[in-house]
Amino acid sequence: MYRTNTCGELRMSDVGRSVTLAGWVHRVRKMGGVTFVELRDRYGITQLVFNEQDSPELFDQSNDLGREYVIQIEGIVAERYSKNEKIATGDIEITVSRLTLLNQSEIPPFTIEENTDGGDDLRMKYRYLDLRRKNVRENLELRHRVCMETRKYLDGQGFLEIETPILINSTPEGARDFVVPSRMNPGQFYALPQSPQLFKQLLMVAGMDRYFQIVKCFRDEDLRADRQPEFTQIDCEMSFVQQDDVIQMFEGMITHLFKEILNYDFQLPLRRMPWQEAMEKYGSDKPDLRFGMEFVELTATLRGTGTFQVFNDAAYIGAICAQGCGNYSRKQQNELVDFVKTPQIGAKGITFVKIEEDGTPKSTIDKFYSPEQLLQLKDKMQAVPGDMIMIMCGDDTMRTRKQLCELRLEMGSRLGLRDKSKFALLWITDFPMFEWSEEEQRLLAMHHPFTSPKPEDVALLDSHPEQVRANAYDMVCNGVEIGGGSVRIHDSILQNKIFSILGLTPDIVEKRFKYLVRAFKYGAPPHAGLAYGLDRLVSLFAGLDSIRDCIAFPKNNSGRDTMVDAPTVLEPEQLQELNLKVQLPQ
Ligand code: AMO
Repeated sequence: MYRTNTCGELRMSDVGRSVTLAGWVHRVRKMGGVTFVELRDRYGITQLVFNEQDSPELFDQSNDLGREYVIQIEGIVAERYSKNEKIATGDIEITVSRLTLLNQSEIPPFTIEENTDGGDDLRMKYRYLDLRRKNVRENLELRHRVCMETRKYLDGQGFLEIETPILINSTPEGARDFVVPSRMNPGQFYALPQSPQLFKQLLMVAGMDRYFQIVKCFRDEDLRADRQPEFTQIDCEMSFVQQDDVIQMFEGMITHLFKEILNYDFQLPLRRMPWQEAMEKYGSDKPDLRFGMEFVELTATLRGTGTFQVFNDAAYIGAICAQGCGNYSRKQQNELVDFVKTPQIGAKGITFVKIEEDGTPKSTIDKFYSPEQLLQLKDKMQAVPGDMIMIMCGDDTMRTRKQLCELRLEMGSRLGLRDKSKFALLWITDFPMFEWSEEEQRLLAMHHPFTSPKPEDVALLDSHPEQVRANAYDMVCNGVEIGGGSVRIHDSILQNKIFSILGLTPDIVEKRFKYLVRAFKYGAPPHAGLAYGLDRLVSLFAGLDSIRDCIAFPKNNSGRDTMVDAPTVLEPEQLQELNLKVQLPQ
């Protein structure tokens, strides 16, 4: 037996016991005739003591130990002279009687501490060392618990966990596919699933009734803090249900997870906000509701009512009221203006209106509007002395709202209103079915082409498709879309109509989705479902800024795994075997 106990286990009640431990040398402290070694494993750290007087030989051996050496020791548990309250085993130490070196280690490129000295690239290159750090390991432990609790809940509700294939063809989520060449089928390629969407629908046709899978999905898209090219979904589908049934089932699941993982309670039912309202009040389909600062539309109030040409030319004017920010200096204002002007946001600027102590609004637009108009503006914003109104305008309503959304989030952060220990969870419902793509000059499915329209909007499909709302829903928490799904179309006539509105010709449909269309001819039940982003959910629970920190082996922002050095070029023989020729861009 390598060990009788782990390094996180021993307490005062074990004093006097003879134990064997194994682990990594975390730190060595030499204090004259005594050497203290901190021994670490997944479970914790235990202090070992080597005393020169007791055994000069062992003492010498201990002084040869280096960081991250792997050792095994035998010894007696003793009460510690100076206790360490910071660790669970801090009341005891081991008086070592035998030391076996199991393995040496080169000096690691960074220290295995909570706040490591390793930069991001270095940590990722040596991720197996990075994972030895307590906080990173704890994220993986949390992820494991989220998976286990998810399985427990869904199993309790009669869901079956069923695997679906990875080597498939194109799926409908709208990102670019990762493709894999087939050696046995020259010139042909598999696509990796962007999600198991069509397979789970087929499982409903197959009568499985309730399906789930914790599954890898692959999307070749630009990466951000909450996006990875391969990520994990908790993917679910149910038969013979309507939107409310799905919402109820998964409110149950999410509140179960919050309770079990964080002991955090929510009142059910969760808030549901129609997409239109979310866009009008927060300029986002994933509003952060930990704080207010709702948008107030001022188009009618300020456009054409004064002589400020910028406002008179705008399609949309909106504002937020930042409480207590009336004392912002010119420098602070300029910082905010620079922030909204960054290329990622792309706004032209912000107009500030400060409410003076006596209630008078003061602004650079004073000269364009009468004092009464400015007082009206103040009332409309419900601003009080000491507040700062921040107005943005633009020639495209949606774009301007998104820019104002960025400003609102920035102000929320600056004012400390985005507390990571608070959770504002809600559903966004009634998404539009379609969105116009300037690039492709056609309507695209906002969720995916298998999402059903609201029955009351079906009549608008021919005349005003852009006004049709979908039976689609997203779950949002603290400004992050943690999940999304929809009621599916199970009627082939309606499905064909949607395909044709999306400009998917019978040829394309035949090529990409013929198996689904065929399956639907054999009695498809009404069905609906959703998928959660597991990585996003875990980062939310752990209060992380990036989903990378809860993924054992993540990719960097260029989609590279710097540890295994992937992607990489293929050997000429391999290319030949796959009938591939590589032509790099000029
Ligand atoms: P959707 O595309 O909305 O829906 O994805 C579901 C959830 O997966 C997470 N997610 C991601 N997480 C990390 N990195 C990414 N690149 C990434 N992309 C998405 C999000 C998102 O809410 N098949 C449908 C679901 C359904 O209709 O049932 C789908 O995949 O948290």
